[in-house]
Amino acid sequence: MTLTTVNSSALETYIGAVRSAVDARVGADETVRRVVAANQVLRSAPFEIPAPLRRIKPGVAYTRNLVHQDLERGFSVIAILWGRFQETRVHDHLNWCVMHMLEGSCMAIDYERLDDEKTPGRAELAIRAAGVLETGGISGLTPPPRSNIHKIANARPEVSISLHTYGDPGTRARVFDPVAGKVEIVDLAFHNLEP
Ligand SMILES: [Fe+2]
Repeated sequence: MTLTTVNSSALETYIGAVRSAVDARVGADETVRRVVAANQVLRSAPFEIPAPLRRIKPGVAYTRNLVHQDLERGFSVIAILWGRFQETRVHDHLNWCVMHMLEGSCMAIDYERLDDEKTPGRAELAIRAAGVLETGGISGLTPPPRSNIHKIANARPEVSISLHTYGDPGTRARVFDPVAGKVEIVDLAFHNLEP
């Protein structure tokens, strides 16, 4: 099911490649490898996020515009627009995810979970790695609990744009407060579908 009309053949081809990767039922590691490869193909094509998906919503932490959602196969493709030094909270996703930096650059901080995950609502984290994803950079994460907790921030004062593909509908995430040692599930909006 396509919720957003996308007028871009390169993007349609990419979505088809993700669909094929998911249909192959090859496990999360291989699915991520195939979706990363599909992003490499997308990178080699003359491609730009279509204008309707480039609109920034004022007053939100960062703008999430839904490109495509396949509820039957359980994946979603989302364009994220990062305003001046905008950032996520520390979070992870319910399944695998692949991020492709289309324009600009973002900082990515990866966290390690230190607790035994047996106390509901509690989480102890430590930073494992930090780096910058430059334009054209592609990053894949396998499902939790392995190496999935992260935080993303625009690395520059100008707008940056990234394309995110998730092995879930893209509507929920776990959000961590590393200082308070807390974790909760939160619902995520698609700003281009809001009035
Ligand atoms: Fe994320």
